[in-house]
Amino acid sequence: MKCAVLGGTGLIGARIVAALTAAGHDATPHARSTGVDLLTGEGLAPALAGADTVIDATQSPTADDASADFFRTATGNLLAAARDAGVRHAVLLSIVGVDRVPGLGYYRAKVLQEELYATGPVPYSLVRATQFFEYVDEIMSWTTERGTVRLPTTLLQPVAADDAARAVAALAAGRPLHGVRDIAGPEVFPLDDLARITLAARGDRRTVRTDPTAGPFATAPANALTARDGTHLTRTRYRDWLTG
Ligand SMILES: NC(=O)c1ccc[n+]([C@@H]2O[C@H](COP(=O)([O-])OP(=O)(O)OC[C@H]3O[C@@H](n4cnc5c(N)ncnc54)[C@H](OP(=O)(O)O)[C@@H]3O)[C@@H](O)[C@H]2O)c1
Repeated sequence: MKCAVLGGTGLIGARIVAALTAAGHDATPHARSTGVDLLTGEGLAPALAGADTVIDATQSPTADDASADFFRTATGNLLAAARDAGVRHAVLLSIVGVDRVPGLGYYRAKVLQEELYATGPVPYSLVRATQFFEYVDEIMSWTTERGTVRLPTTLLQPVAADDAARAVAALAAGRPLHGVRDIAGPEVFPLDDLARITLAARGDRRTVRTDPTAGPFATAPANALTARDGTHLTRTRYRDWLTG
């Protein structure tokens, strides 16, 4: 199967390219750095020529309300080009629980992006993953001040990006779902505890203070971001990944 992976140089996109390649597919990464810009459409038609499947793992330059403009334009250009190229399956990478956190502008933008796929011209699959293990450092950086990380007790069920990428690759190689499939890791952690586990494993001397108002995850209802029935659960456990 010939796959075009938009955002295929990014954190998850590069792993999806590797997982597809390991499974014997012909996967090519595309991004601005390879000459494809979803905002202008530059390079898009040649990138999609002959592709059976398109996987969208792009990211907005900002995670605020402006991300809706990025996803509206980028997704519109991608789906129109995929239709013109005769692509048979368009796969969007999204986030578990994205429609359960209306208070977050970035999540509202991802819901808009999902709706563009669901109403678009190409058979589609929405693949929602939980937060990647690799993302925990960035989450902590947002609310670190003078050696203290403030975080709420919001429950997360993080997933190793390599595991998520293999699951995305398998779904992309199958038939369009015309719906949603969730992917999550095997364990649930309160976010403040997840940070404590991470800092302890690294010998990082920052301390974690529980603060129900700190950072964007404070906006999420306590269990909005964890798995529901039917979720594909992956195997790698967080502490094993940290020390591996
Ligand atoms: N982080 C998480 O925990 C998580 C969890 C679930 C789902 N997701 C979803 O996964 C997706 C990817 O996240 P990520 O963390 O892997 O992002 P990332 O590492 O920032 O990678 C973003 C990719 O998009 C490309 N890109 C950005 N603007 C572009 C444009 N105008 N045209 C073409 N390509 C463009 C980037 O390459 P260039 O800069 O070279 O263009 C890069 O390849 C996001 O949609 C996110 O919502 C993330």
